[in-house]
Amino acid sequence: MPTTADYTEKIPNNVGLHEDRRLQRALESWQPNFLHWWVSMGPTLPTQDVYLRTAVNVGREGWAHFGHVPMRDYRWGIFLAERDRDRQIGFGQHMGEPAWQQVPGEYRSELRRLIVIQGDTEPASVEQQRNLGATAPSLYDLRNLFQVNVEEGRHLWAMVYLLHAYFGRDGREEAEELLHRNSGSADSPRILGAFNEETPDWLSFFMFTYFTDRDGKYQLGTLKESAFDPLSRTCEFMLKEEAHHMFVGTTGVDRVVERTAQLMVEKDTDDASPYGAIGLDVIQKYLNFHYSVSLDLFGGETSTNVANYYTAGLKGRWMEPRRKDDHKLASDAVMVDALVDDGHGAQSIGQTEVSALTGLNTDLRREYVADCQSGVNRWNKVLADAGLPQRLKLPHVAFNRKVGAFAGIESSPDGELLTAGEWQQRCGAWLPTDVDKTHVRSLMQPVHERGKIAAWIAPPRQGINGNPFDYEYVHLA
Ligand SMILES: [Fe+2]
Ligand SMILES: [Fe+2]
Repeated sequence: MPTTADYTEKIPNNVGLHEDRRLQRALESWQPNFLHWWVSMGPTLPTQDVYLRTAVNVGREGWAHFGHVPMRDYRWGIFLAERDRDRQIGFGQHMGEPAWQQVPGEYRSELRRLIVIQGDTEPASVEQQRNLGATAPSLYDLRNLFQVNVEEGRHLWAMVYLLHAYFGRDGREEAEELLHRNSGSADSPRILGAFNEETPDWLSFFMFTYFTDRDGKYQLGTLKESAFDPLSRTCEFMLKEEAHHMFVGTTGVDRVVERTAQLMVEKDTDDASPYGAIGLDVIQKYLNFHYSVSLDLFGGETSTNVANYYTAGLKGRWMEPRRKDDHKLASDAVMVDALVDDGHGAQSIGQTEVSALTGLNTDLRREYVADCQSGVNRWNKVLADAGLPQRLKLPHVAFNRKVGAFAGIESSPDGELLTAGEWQQRCGAWLPTDVDKTHVRSLMQPVHERGKIAAWIAPPRQGINGNPFDYEYVHLA
């Protein structure tokens, strides 16, 4: 199998598409629909070309090519990580058997569902971010936005390839539906809640790429373990691209905090917002919002579906090969977050023991939470280095939840149970209010001049691919 894509082909790929004429024709007939979707639902800012990374290979070294390309000519391709012919299933009841190269009939609908749910998030984020170009703080940031957008488009291709190649007619129908659902649409919204929220400003974008793209990283990590080998290989390569999305979020928030801290010190104030920056309290509120809606993406604390997916071998755990247990979990138990009886007839936020299999969503969410904490530590280091005593923090897992054990209650960011009335009164101190959002939006004046940057954010330490910050990353139309 060739690992380097042939870019003279209509659909660049490393899966030997030309050897399967039927599949090639099916994907070629989906391609114009994809392009129509990109033009009508993708980035709205008119550009001539953008300095983009294009995947050309899946190997360790030099897997990507950088260059200025008109976005409509971006070569969305199909790339699977290289096949390991000896790969065995690493968990569940089929552990030790050879990985599947075809979809077993008994798991067909579950696998299709998993692929559709993952696939649905990819174009959703492009839709959510489509208007951000108009308010980009620099050409460097504008380029990063477009890079994330084209790669999410490619991730859609990755999932559509699996649907077309392995799920016959149902798969082709699902591939069409992926273009018909739209983020925030009243009639046919995207499947998951966080992907129907708007991303109206760049602080939201950075928080989204930090918290919500990171959920994607963890979901892909579980699918990478799948017994269905083409899905595993697809996700492995997607994770490689996803790393840049995390980078955009992490360093984006870094730079917002850095600028705010700078002004707080310079003006000797707790509130940098009158000086053209985003106040630390507002940064905290955005963090609270994006973190809590992203926690919802992991589903309920307990789930028999997920237990079944695991036992069947469809979806593993984060870093499954590194886990030191039997990889079957049939007799293990785990503590999960829950509402428990406090002994006086009232409920309180606590934990309860469940079987390890039904608690797998909690297992994944905990890995994610620990990872999120590392970002907060990093931002707090920016504050500490500036000599400031203030700190950011992750809110309690029960805060602002719409899914799972805490969906029916209200909690403060410290995990204090609140009545509906108390929540109404106090939530404006914890989640972005209209006033906060309006202020953030008022700062979002575009800076599209080479080498310049908006006043609410610090410049990056480095440019892209060894280029300086003042490189012409984007040529506007
Ligand atoms: Fe993605
Ligand atoms: Fe992503």
